[in-house]
Amino acid sequence: MADPLGLLLVGCGRISGAHLAALQGLEDDIRLVATVDSDLAAAQRAAVPFGALAFDDLGAALALPQVDAILIASPNGLHAAQAAAALAAGKHVLVEKPLAETGAEARALADEAGQRGLVLAAGHTYRHNAAVATLVDMMPQWGPLRAVEVSSCVFWDGPQAPWWAERTAEEGLILSLFAPHSLDFVQLVMGADDPLRVQAEAARWQSGWQGEDEAMILLGYPGRRMASVHISYNQRSVFDRKVLHFASGVAEIEDGEVLKWNGEVLVAPPEGVLVNPRAMGGRKLGHFFAQQWREFAAAVRGKPHRCPTGHDAARLIDLIDRVKAAARATSADAIDPVFAA
Ligand SMILES: NC(=O)c1ccc[n+]([C@@H]2O[C@H](COP(=O)([O-])OP(=O)(O)OC[C@H]3O[C@@H](n4cnc5c(N)ncnc54)[C@H](O)[C@@H]3O)[C@@H](O)[C@H]2O)c1
Repeated sequence: MADPLGLLLVGCGRISGAHLAALQGLEDDIRLVATVDSDLAAAQRAAVPFGALAFDDLGAALALPQVDAILIASPNGLHAAQAAAALAAGKHVLVEKPLAETGAEARALADEAGQRGLVLAAGHTYRHNAAVATLVDMMPQWGPLRAVEVSSCVFWDGPQAPWWAERTAEEGLILSLFAPHSLDFVQLVMGADDPLRVQAEAARWQSGWQGEDEAMILLGYPGRRMASVHISYNQRSVFDRKVLHFASGVAEIEDGEVLKWNGEVLVAPPEGVLVNPRAMGGRKLGHFFAQQWREFAAAVRGKPHRCPTGHDAARLIDLIDRVKAAARATSADAIDPVFAA
């Protein structure tokens, strides 16, 4: 067996906990060797249980020879520059979604990774659960895909980190933070094609941030295929459903975990995953964070994997650019409402 990959974690905030928990038990594949956070105490808290080194400076950590790969879990606006620094230092990179703020940045990263022979992967965690993986493997049997409907509606009572509130309406909120999950699913099932047409409506219902917190997206793909995506940060009764219309029937993924074909359950999650799927936090996510690490390790070792990488990952950010532009063009007045004092 190859030596475990030495991993550097950058950004030791909320989501880093899910990654660190997932790394427990994967020691033969990946080992945390260092952490970086602008808050050194946060870097130290993450590092100590792993016996890893802690830094508040990315450059110093990237100079460590024992670092083979880096996970970027910092605020979205830092992803592109930190990924570029990691690639320049010769490290493989897994970037939490979104890969970058703009398609141009994402494509430049993909070019750089390609030229250096390094893996640049985007952290589209939700690809890595059994319902999605089985759907992707089975869909060739179900005949041509005509239409996809995705609803992914959750509730956040205001910013979950200070940088959520700092993002401008032009930079986007839910279209940058949450749309990558749903649009990655659509791109995954649509294959190599990008949409021919992109339409979008967006709105802001909460006053604690500047960007849109609700959006509907309509995509027209080659071959008369179409997709709709509804995302929300305003739904207290969490709703997560994917419906796919094929020539021979309907596939559904309920609560992100239960795959049905024409009503028959094909995949159900492990015991204890769907605790209360209609509540925030009522679905345990650890199993597919762990699977994402296995897939990333396979990618680095040149084996088959399910991570979106390189230009395939950058395509999603190009799509998000198009969605943001469409939403601003149609619905700026709904994104920038005047709230009563
Ligand atoms: N895959 C998922 O399901 C998922 C879920 C939540 C968040 N995310 C993504 O993960 C990323 C982090 O989100 P979060 O909710 O953990 O945010 P967070 O604010 O809780 O954590 C970010 C951390 O980065 C640190 N940081 C800030 N500037 C830094 C710098 N210059 N260098 C190093 N560290 C710096 C902060 O101190 C903080 O500890 C975001 O890009 C978000 O979109 C992904």
